Amino acid sequence: MIHRLAEKLNVSPDQIVLGNGSNEIIELLIRTYLQPGDEVISPFPSFLMYDLLIRAAGCHNKIVPLKDFKNDLESMADRISSDTRMIFINNPNNPTGTIVSRDVFERFLRQVPSDVIVAVDEAYIEFVQERDCPVGLDYIGSDKSVVALRTFSKAYGLAGLRIGYGVMSTEMAGFINRVRQPFNTNALAQVGALAALGDDEFFAKTLSLTHSGLQYLYRELDRLSIRYYTTQTNFFLIDVGMDAKSVYEKMLRQGVIIRAMTAYGYPNYIRVTVGLPEENERFIKALEKVLNET
Ligand SMILES: Cc1ncc(COP(=O)(O)O)c(C=O)c1O
Repeated sequence: MIHRLAEKLNVSPDQIVLGNGSNEIIELLIRTYLQPGDEVISPFPSFLMYDLLIRAAGCHNKIVPLKDFKNDLESMADRISSDTRMIFINNPNNPTGTIVSRDVFERFLRQVPSDVIVAVDEAYIEFVQERDCPVGLDYIGSDKSVVALRTFSKAYGLAGLRIGYGVMSTEMAGFINRVRQPFNTNALAQVGALAALGDDEFFAKTLSLTHSGLQYLYRELDRLSIRYYTTQTNFFLIDVGMDAKSVYEKMLRQGVIIRAMTAYGYPNYIRVTVGLPEENERFIKALEKVLNET
């Protein structure tokens, strides 16, 4: 499976580390390269596991707030100190669905010392429509320590099988391979991932359903005069203008599960993942009902 993946990504198989989800690669990077007291820089709000895993390893997480809903790479670069060992970037960012542009990313990279690991989490990169989006893979041969984190959980729909991967220099992969458990990804997950890599039709259908679903949802939200933020992923934020937790609970009673963004610092926002057309319609009906009743 790793050979097929390497072929698809145009890298060498020994530059890839498979993980029990890309979550495990985040954890392995931290375990392999960091010691208690080391400093890491990460964005917020973003994927909540960065902070959890950094702190669980006894490291100091320097949190840099998003700017205009995007990873603020300028401020992240400004906060690099001699203790900084690793930087997490989430591109596109969960939960805001934003990307950073290529020139902003490259300006940032120029400011990062080559021994500081830049982990670019690209869990949702397959959904991106904007052309001006940097791709971590393009920077792996450079003099910077860039790692691209990818997963089969999102665009490939295999979240339950737990398989993701990191792409990095051969040297870095060698160190991580020495730290990981020998059988960290199970055989069934690898068979599933291999099949997914060959199933171009399913992949294309997923992207087209997602993108057309987004257009439908944007249109309906415009009709209802509800504020939302356009996305480069398969989820997006909606400003419900009231306590998102109560909207979450009421939507749940309608049989629709969304996420309240309270833990992410957005108490009035919900995050919605695009579904099948009938699910999107059901979501709009439920949201209209809940917001009208409140
Ligand atoms: C930004 C981001 N990175 C990584 C992951 C981890 O995905 P997995 O461990 O399923 O590959 C997620 C899952 O929600 C995510 O949102």
